[in-house]
Amino acid sequence: MAMNTVGVVGLGYVGLTMAVTLARKGFTVHGVDTSPAVLDALAQGRPHLYEPGLDEGLGTFLGDRLHVASSLPARGVEAAIICVSTPVNPETRGPELGNLRAAARHVAERCAPDTLVIVRSTVPVGGSRAAVLPELLSAWGRARLAFAPERTIQGQALRELEELPQVVGGLDLESGRAAAKLFERVTRRVVSVSSLEAAELVKLANNCHTDLIYSYGNEIALVAERWGLDPLEVIRAANLDYPRPDLAKPGFVGGACLSKDPYILISASRATGYTPWLVGQARGLNEHLPGHVAERLVAMIRSARGSADEHYGRCAFARHRTVRTSIVGRAPAAHVGASGDAALGQVGHRLRIEQRVVGDDQRRIDGARLERTPRRAKRFGSGDRPGKGRAVAADTKVDGEQGVHVVGKVLQHPERMQLRKTPIPRPRTVVPLI
Ligand SMILES: NC(=O)c1ccc[n+]([C@@H]2O[C@H](COP(=O)([O-])OP(=O)(O)OC[C@H]3O[C@@H](n4cnc5c(N)ncnc54)[C@H](O)[C@@H]3O)[C@@H](O)[C@H]2O)c1
Repeated sequence: MAMNTVGVVGLGYVGLTMAVTLARKGFTVHGVDTSPAVLDALAQGRPHLYEPGLDEGLGTFLGDRLHVASSLPARGVEAAIICVSTPVNPETRGPELGNLRAAARHVAERCAPDTLVIVRSTVPVGGSRAAVLPELLSAWGRARLAFAPERTIQGQALRELEELPQVVGGLDLESGRAAAKLFERVTRRVVSVSSLEAAELVKLANNCHTDLIYSYGNEIALVAERWGLDPLEVIRAANLDYPRPDLAKPGFVGGACLSKDPYILISASRATGYTPWLVGQARGLNEHLPGHVAERLVAMIRSARGSADEHYGRCAFARHRTVRTSIVGRAPAAHVGASGDAALGQVGHRLRIEQRVVGDDQRRIDGARLERTPRRAKRFGSGDRPGKGRAVAADTKVDGEQGVHVVGKVLQHPERMQLRKTPIPRPRTVVPLI
């Protein structure tokens, strides 16, 4: 029998895009979240995050086929898709599955054994069986369980949810088939694999591979730098019409998934007695890059004393010793936001700049306060005068590339900042990452 009522547990980026997509495909969707801020925003019809098409989707379906609450309906749902966050512990870097267990408990309380439970959160291999299944079994005695990884990219999620092949693995044949049937109504192609664990590893393997190939571009850049060579020249020449895998361009590699999934794979592998050779090295190299870029940027800013306005400076703020810097990163917007901030935080730290950077959420990175403020890219670009100490940076585009601009107040070593009285309506210099 076709399933028509689906619960989505966790309405962050993954859950909300899934909920809207399911509603668009004709399902009745019950979205659940524990965060009052998320529920408040959605109750007012406002998405609490930005993804193209989400606004319109909510406008069309909310209160109609899409319902949002702090718990699933008492009569249960036919399928429940768990999309809660699965962070890694900042100290140990081990996965924290408390949200997943709580979500499974909630589904077990509100639903019945016939409910198909699908895990979509990223988990260590074996995570669905270890964290979700016991909660279902202890309430129901039996369970229908599947894992179906989310593999969309931010900015394209709604399109990709309908276009990407959907990998599905079941606890048993029947669970796998039921989950495949559900996703056949969402996307063009379903790829069934033989187990929960195979599907879990697909997700981690995809993301760690991305981390790895990007890290090689960074490796080549760091090597080229030692000879004073331009890494982009080398990489362009290496790739041109050469029928072998392309080298990646160097740049920041970060974002919510790439910065944690390698650790999830490493910790899951270690539990089996195997430590991956490459995954940790690649992540380490990618994490080393923001610091390296910051060092270079600081060196460039310092050596540019005397011609400061080419690199930074702003007339009205010379008094306040304001520095304006542009960093341009690799194109994927999602990455530049998070890891560009990381480098800027480090630049600020090294220059002792008190800077407040517009980020996607409230974070603290290496001494820089990152806070959510309205996007100001346009005003900033047209010479908007930021007030003293206000957040004045924005993700924006410079020369067609995604960039991040910072204006900060120099607290110490002001002698290093020679600011000239020349208005700079647009950032003057785009400092390449490498
Ligand atoms: N963001 C991505 O691009 C992406 C892509 C692929 C996979 N993933 C994975 O999907 C999962 C979710 O990611 P996200 O980016 O949507 O996370 P998120 O932090 O944006 O959203 C998670 C939501 O779950 C809610 N939540 C936490 N515990 C809950 C509970 N017990 N019951 C109900 N709601 C609960 C939180 O309040 C939050 O709104 C993670 O495992 C992540 O690794 C994310």
